[in-house]
Amino acid sequence: MSLAYLESQGFRNIKQLGIEPCPTVNLIYGDNASGKTSLLETIYYLAHGRSFLTNKIKDIMNVDAQRMHIFSKLQSTQDRLIPAGILHDREKLLIKLDGEKISRLSDLAIQLPVIALHPESHQLVSGGPNERRQFIDWGLFHVEQSFYSIWQRYQKALKQRNAALRSKQPAKSFHIWDKQIIDTANIIDQLRANYIQSLQSLVNQFQTLLFDDKEIKISYQRGWNKDNDLAFVLQQGFNTDMERGFTHAGPHRADLRFKINGLNAETAVSRGQQKTLVVLLRLMQGLLFNQATNKNSVILFDDLPAELDIQHRQKILKMMSELPAQIFITSIEKNAVDLSLWPEQKMFHVEHGTVSEQR
Ligand SMILES: Nc1ncnc2c1ncn2[C@@H]1O[C@H](COP(=O)(O)OP(=O)(O)OP(=O)(O)O)[C@@H](O)[C@H]1O
Ligand SMILES: [Mg+2]
Repeated sequence: MSLAYLESQGFRNIKQLGIEPCPTVNLIYGDNASGKTSLLETIYYLAHGRSFLTNKIKDIMNVDAQRMHIFSKLQSTQDRLIPAGILHDREKLLIKLDGEKISRLSDLAIQLPVIALHPESHQLVSGGPNERRQFIDWGLFHVEQSFYSIWQRYQKALKQRNAALRSKQPAKSFHIWDKQIIDTANIIDQLRANYIQSLQSLVNQFQTLLFDDKEIKISYQRGWNKDNDLAFVLQQGFNTDMERGFTHAGPHRADLRFKINGLNAETAVSRGQQKTLVVLLRLMQGLLFNQATNKNSVILFDDLPAELDIQHRQKILKMMSELPAQIFITSIEKNAVDLSLWPEQKMFHVEHGTVSEQR
């Protein structure tokens, strides 16, 4: 999958955007505040229904606009262009895919495997667990057909159990929620564990370019004690759950830990190393997606030169040039990103919200 065409209006400061990106690599350059990040956000928004910077629609819609739209033509593997778009006014959202109105963002999201790297990406390692769970689940959503509905069933049962805890329902009425939670939790856990195992083997295969002979280790924590089954854990923690009004164990508490040569990546490695690690993890996620589906992913790399020395920049570009993906890179300086490793490329200049192709 790649974006063959992208247009948008009413999105942040973007005034004029109607481009035909290259299926391999695209460099977007321009001064501070010209609109580079905003351009990448339009692609991310189309694929996730939210920005990688904020969940608030009022932040991303242009302050003077009453509506915004993002429209794109997706190049599928079958040589067909699929129109896809989102239109948002201050009240409602309209999503269209291949000429049909669709009600769920997930139906559009599944068509658009978009991965973002940006100056805050190190938070995958250094921030809270939410982002790490989203990281695993993005991968599963795009490669495991059954994952999304199982995950939804789990969320629903968990919500109902938490509501029952808060309203102090009698212990015997929990049987029904617990059963649903346990059934779906075990499947989610198995899928996540397998996913991380596959990701680890890709990391082992490709890490040398970025980390020489250092060992990169991802460990997955399922969200409850590894020695006990969830039924036992829920039963044992029931009184505490009742006191606190929420369920303390389950896949919603899962997490990941990363180590570089035995050092905890969260607390004991440099910021540049954290960033490089996140680049490696996300790129391998894109590769895993490609291997599982035979489709390309779309990689957005906002401000690639930031916090990376020239050697690391080159190595990352080399790794990206070998991946089956459509890539969008932003940079303030046109010459700070060397695209010579790609046989073809396009460059776009952004100036006060107007994007133009440089030939
Ligand atoms: N909702 C909005 N309406 C209008 N303008 C906005 C909105 N949100 C952000 N902006 C403005 O859009 C401009 C472009 O922001 P953007 O982050 O895309 O710039 P950039 O080119 O990535 O800059 P930098 O090189 O500093 O990262 C900024 O001046 C920002 O304040
Ligand atoms: Mg920016």
